[in-house]
Amino acid sequence: MRALEPRGPLVLALGHGAHLLRGHHAARIILLVLVVVVVATLLVRRARHRSHVEVSTTPPIVAGGAPPPVAADGLDPASPTSIDPGPPRSRSSRHGGAIVARGLTKRYGEKLAVDDLSFEVQPGLVTGFLGPNGAGKSTTMRLIMGLDAPDQGSVTIGGRRYHDLGLPLREVGALLEARSIHPGRSAYAHLWMLARSNDIPRRRVDEVLEIVGLSAVARQRAGGFSLGMNQRLGIAGALLGDPGVLLFDEPVNGLDTDGIRWIRSLLRQLAAEGRTVFVSSHLMSEMAMTADRVVVIGKGRLIAEASVAEFTARNARSFVRVRSPQLDVLRAALEAAGASVASDGDDALAVRELRAEQIGEIAWRHSVLLHELAPRSASLEDAFVESTEGDLEYRGDRALATTEEGPAR
Ligand SMILES: Nc1ncnc2c1ncn2[C@@H]1O[C@H](COP(=O)(O)OP(=O)(O)OP(=O)(O)O)[C@@H](O)[C@H]1O
Ligand SMILES: [Mg+2]
Repeated sequence: MRALEPRGPLVLALGHGAHLLRGHHAARIILLVLVVVVVATLLVRRARHRSHVEVSTTPPIVAGGAPPPVAADGLDPASPTSIDPGPPRSRSSRHGGAIVARGLTKRYGEKLAVDDLSFEVQPGLVTGFLGPNGAGKSTTMRLIMGLDAPDQGSVTIGGRRYHDLGLPLREVGALLEARSIHPGRSAYAHLWMLARSNDIPRRRVDEVLEIVGLSAVARQRAGGFSLGMNQRLGIAGALLGDPGVLLFDEPVNGLDTDGIRWIRSLLRQLAAEGRTVFVSSHLMSEMAMTADRVVVIGKGRLIAEASVAEFTARNARSFVRVRSPQLDVLRAALEAAGASVASDGDDALAVRELRAEQIGEIAWRHSVLLHELAPRSASLEDAFVESTEGDLEYRGDRALATTEEGPAR
């Protein structure tokens, strides 16, 4: 019956046209042509609308028979996409909102995992989230993503709680647990499933697979992926909605050197585009190269929230490494001059409170031979070790944890 409906106005228009033609008036003929054009346009529009509705309500699950070989979970990647939200947003101007945590507290039974934590993560910067094992980093990220509910306090993204975001993947992307992907599902199917749930067009799945370098293995089951490949797939999922806010929990875990360099430049690029980038990592040297600011926590509490330079300067002092075959004589002379001196390996000293030139002059005056006189600037790792000293949940012997510069101080 619906197919006959459009005939009504058409017949009416033709009837009018015939009546007008009888009048042999040119203006009436033009009017008739206009009416026919309008009616034809209406008919074409109606037909288009009907075919669009049919496409968007057709379930893309292959019913019966073997699933296509490329999709481990039975989704048909060749089926048409649902509503296309239009062209992707420019990757060079994607501004994110700030993440604001206020008095965030989370308890698991007796364990206080996050303790009255307040901090802000600003757009346009990479903010490193640092803390010893068990400090509460992953818990905090889960609270931000609404995967856990805080016992007290709140956290918002661009002024809204996660659960209040309409299409969350388009606002916030997160890599929290790389192994949380169904092992029987292909990388492509996993991303397509996420995309459909947030009205993200299919072409974006291909784009993010390309960005993370997984295009060649997109049709393979994620269960056979290495840890590094899973990390890349997780990162692809985070980028899928082209969100302005991104959270990465230990993203370099399992990545090879090339992968680590890649993610470093990716994070920097995302922040340079104006996005809010919050990333936890155990690799201090990596964070020193990647982050602009740091939020440091220990035992669930805030230890510091500062720029990398401020945090390093505040929490670790630079020193001068001195190597000599006459360490005892030199040590006594330096201490007499007011230096603070510590052993730095078997044949070297770590000297503070004196500059390299002053140390050289003292050595010369005491006829001490020097093999090395090297100023060392304090590193983010030094600052981290200093600032978290009292907040270690799981403690190894830090004296054994020698760094390139010498023993941990
Ligand atoms: N679901 C849970 N149930 C019980 N305790 C939990 C749960 N999740 C986290 N915890 C505890 O909360 C504390 C914080 O854990 P969390 O995983 O957030 O630390 P983290 O800083 O991410 O550590 P890591 O650096 O090792 O990843 C830990 O003591 C942990 O055992
Ligand atoms: Mg963690």
